[in-house]
Amino acid sequence: MKKFDILALGELNVDLLLNRIGGFPEIGKEIFAKEMTLTLGSSTAIFAANAATLGAKVSFVGMIGRDSFGEVVKSTLQQRKVDISNLIEVDDEATGLTAILNYDNDRANVTYPGAMSRMGVKDIRPENIREAKHVHISSIFLQETLHRELFDIVKLVKECGATLSMDVQFDPEETWDFDCAKILPLVDVFMPNEQELMAITCKDSVEEAVAAIRPYANVTVVKMGTCGSLVVTREKEHHMPAMLNKSVVDAIGAGDSFDAGFISAYVRGKDLDYCQWLGNLAGAVNTTAAGGTGAFASKAAVEESAQKYFGQQLAL
Ligand SMILES: Nc1ncnc2c1ncn2[C@@H]1O[C@H](COP(=O)(O)OP(=O)(O)O)[C@@H](O)[C@H]1O
Ligand SMILES: [Mg+2]
Repeated sequence: MKKFDILALGELNVDLLLNRIGGFPEIGKEIFAKEMTLTLGSSTAIFAANAATLGAKVSFVGMIGRDSFGEVVKSTLQQRKVDISNLIEVDDEATGLTAILNYDNDRANVTYPGAMSRMGVKDIRPENIREAKHVHISSIFLQETLHRELFDIVKLVKECGATLSMDVQFDPEETWDFDCAKILPLVDVFMPNEQELMAITCKDSVEEAVAAIRPYANVTVVKMGTCGSLVVTREKEHHMPAMLNKSVVDAIGAGDSFDAGFISAYVRGKDLDYCQWLGNLAGAVNTTAAGGTGAFASKAAVEESAQKYFGQQLAL
């Protein structure tokens, strides 16, 4: 028996959400946003919080500053039942922040990575990994040191006996430097969205991109927004349509919630069809409330939204 089901490894920051904005910002001008919220941000944190809500025992290894945004990160993770005893706090760098300008189903983000860009392989204690069944890594391009040392980190995870999932997320520099042949054989579940998968493989279609990684990948899950998701294994491909939400509040974190749904089923030993169903459902539930964690306040809240909006029975 391991102490934790999942160890979330990586980036921690806060999100400053600006909603109902009067147009696009322009240099030298000022515009109003009619709503503002400060929440726990970062793909990996949203994943961790929502996987914990879905019933997994989750711990976090990530780097934050000893500052007020760091306190927001810690208290929110704690409220969401994520273990914070393995967090690394530093004095000489600030906790990261992402400013998010929301426009209906899409958004423009600006990120100050701060402390999270510094965490590398030597900061990760092997005994933390050994305490967990599974490790999840996300946003590899946002974390400078983690990106540079990714192969060593992935190797360490496997040496410590955990299964591993990875979501790449967007590359702000759009260099998409990712060695599929070296990294993917060590990743049990690879979870990019369509755009990211095509970018890292330099292909123009999902079909070509899937073919390009097939020799190296174990299970690949391609997230396709309102078109649902595609699970690819060595043996087969399975597309599952989205449980469409026609009145989306916002789509922030839909992919992270998908990952949380999929992986919380995966660590319980469920088959890939069930994992994909719970991923799609968690992604859909995510879009019914603001931000990445708004719809995941409690198990009961997720069960209620699953039933009310999508007619799905979820006994967590
Ligand atoms: N409008 C929506 N209605 C229902 N489900 C959605 C909607 N948008 C996204 N999802 C679900 O969430 C998953 C992840 O969203 P997606 O936008 O593909 O990820 P990412 O945020 O990583 O780009 C999708 O695979 C889908 O199952
Ligand atoms: Mg994503």
